[in-house]
Amino acid sequence: MSLVNTKEMFKRAYEGHYSIGAFNVDTFDTFKVVCEAAKEENSPVIIQITENVIKYFGEEYLMAIAKTASETGIEMALHLDHGRSVEICKKCVDLGFTSVMIDASSMSFEDNIRLTKEVVEYAHKHNVTVESELGSITGIEDDSTVEDKYGHFTHPDQVVEFVTRTNIDSLAVAIGTAHGAFKYKPDEKPALRFDILEEIEQKLPLFPLVLHGSSSVPKERLALVNQYGGQLAEAKGIPEDMLTEASKRAVCKINVGTDLRVCFTGEVRKFFVEQPKEFEIRKYTTPARNAVKEMVKDKMRNVFLSSNHAKVD
Ligand code: 13P
Repeated sequence: MSLVNTKEMFKRAYEGHYSIGAFNVDTFDTFKVVCEAAKEENSPVIIQITENVIKYFGEEYLMAIAKTASETGIEMALHLDHGRSVEICKKCVDLGFTSVMIDASSMSFEDNIRLTKEVVEYAHKHNVTVESELGSITGIEDDSTVEDKYGHFTHPDQVVEFVTRTNIDSLAVAIGTAHGAFKYKPDEKPALRFDILEEIEQKLPLFPLVLHGSSSVPKERLALVNQYGGQLAEAKGIPEDMLTEASKRAVCKINVGTDLRVCFTGEVRKFFVEQPKEFEIRKYTTPARNAVKEMVKDKMRNVFLSSNHAKVD
């Protein structure tokens, strides 16, 4: 199967009450194991890439890897995460991405609509689906910082107008998730505003919603980093049962990047401490790759409920 857009994936996810993991991959190692996880779980998958990651891979390498991965018998979309301009979105459409996100959520409502519409008009001509964000999801995105820790949740009264005027394919909503490892203060309890989600669902029946900032930051993964010389402060992520609850509802795409990074880093640190004389790259990345793969498989199977839902011809 070649790369697909998200239209059909989301329709089935909505009807089947599961969501599709959208994993931020930073290097070839994580790219490959996320694809392998999808294959082993028979799950659809979204590989998402930021502008900086495109630069890191190089456009030609990135597209060749994505094409090869999609031909291994997985249902996969290649998605631009947090496109900050119309230009980068159009560029990714031209490169062969099958899905793009235009993030103009920090702009006024009217400007957000204007930019989103421009991307949609271009992308749809090329059969590429478009995600846009309304409201502000707090935390660290790529290398820029979104301020206002408590964020501005998506206002249910704006969603119908936004979706109708832009003609987007999916909407990223702010209901209490946050980017990065440090989503909550130590004394704060993780919470998602399911009341807002419900209002949005009611206003947009059958429309796919997206959750950003959805790493769960497992305690044992954080502990491993620190046990082997890391200095990560205490962090809390989104509890898995809340993500499952969201998956059963209108949320069709769940974004995860931090968990992969923390998991990979802990395993590499452990290896270096335990085997200080080793310098073979494949040796020290193998436990990290295996651990990330298992983590992704677990999310697909037990959290997002997307295992055994891939449509592969
Ligand atoms: P996390 O930082 O919670 O993994 O979120 C990633 C994300 O939403 C990328 O868009």
